[in-house]
Amino acid sequence: MKGILLAGGTGSRLYPLTQVASKQLQPVYDKPMVYYPLTVLIASGIREFCLISTPHDLPRFRQLLGDGSHWGISIVYREQARPDGIAQALIIAADFIGQDPVALMLGDNLFFGGDAFPRAIADFRSGATVFAYHVNDPERYGVVEFDAEGNAVSLEEKPADPRSNYAVPGVYLYDNDVIEIARSLKPSARGELEITDVNKEYLRRGTLRVQRLSRGTAWLDAGTSTSLHEASAYVQTIEKRQGMKLGCPEEAALYRGFLTIDQFETLASSLPPCEYRDYLTELAVEVRRVGLKSA
Ligand code: G1P
Repeated sequence: MKGILLAGGTGSRLYPLTQVASKQLQPVYDKPMVYYPLTVLIASGIREFCLISTPHDLPRFRQLLGDGSHWGISIVYREQARPDGIAQALIIAADFIGQDPVALMLGDNLFFGGDAFPRAIADFRSGATVFAYHVNDPERYGVVEFDAEGNAVSLEEKPADPRSNYAVPGVYLYDNDVIEIARSLKPSARGELEITDVNKEYLRRGTLRVQRLSRGTAWLDAGTSTSLHEASAYVQTIEKRQGMKLGCPEEAALYRGFLTIDQFETLASSLPPCEYRDYLTELAVEVRRVGLKSA
């Protein structure tokens, strides 16, 4: 399965921070935001990525992530010239997707805990798999409604009057039909190609799987300066308590076998002296001592 990271948008809700860097490059405690979704996909076994951003911000992502080879992955880049909707990413990346299934993830979606994504990606065969997460403010999201048997019966984008408290987070798994589905979409009232319309088409075809994320998974929003600060505080709290980092692509690549321990050590020693390098160096020592036991 291939991976698309969408890091577009104007980030107007984070103004004036977004005058300095795009939303998905803002720090979430000790790393740029985009590290977190990238780590989720690497930890799920995805190795080939396409990152999509605005013409203005794309050079900064390239500078940060390069071609991915230092992490044992590959990253190509594509421009989204205008904020014409999430589903447009699937059209922009059609040549990258080729004949494969694809995981599309939004660069501002932060998930911690649980193994729902690696499992869903390993189990994926065809159709679409999306997720559902219980939230307090469903009107801000795509909302899925379930019947008494737990089957998804409706999907709505940012409904004024939500039919459930289940939001659809920004991780979507699709078979190759998604390219043709995205190409056939019409812009919504707000002028965007809506990802919810893609999911509705899979629902209509009877091939949409909606998997509820358990309360053991944390899905955080970092779209406003307050929620960005809260996400940073969350990461700091967990990292301090556990002595393990969240959203560390190097670590995920090591655990997935994309990097050997030798490559990992060489990578760590190439970094400037900093806490991040100390962490990777200590991790290498631990892995040498006890092996790759915990993910
Ligand atoms: C987008 C999607 C929405 C989804 C959300 C997840 O919203 O349109 O369906 O629930 O991402 O983050 P937006 O980023 O446009 O607010």
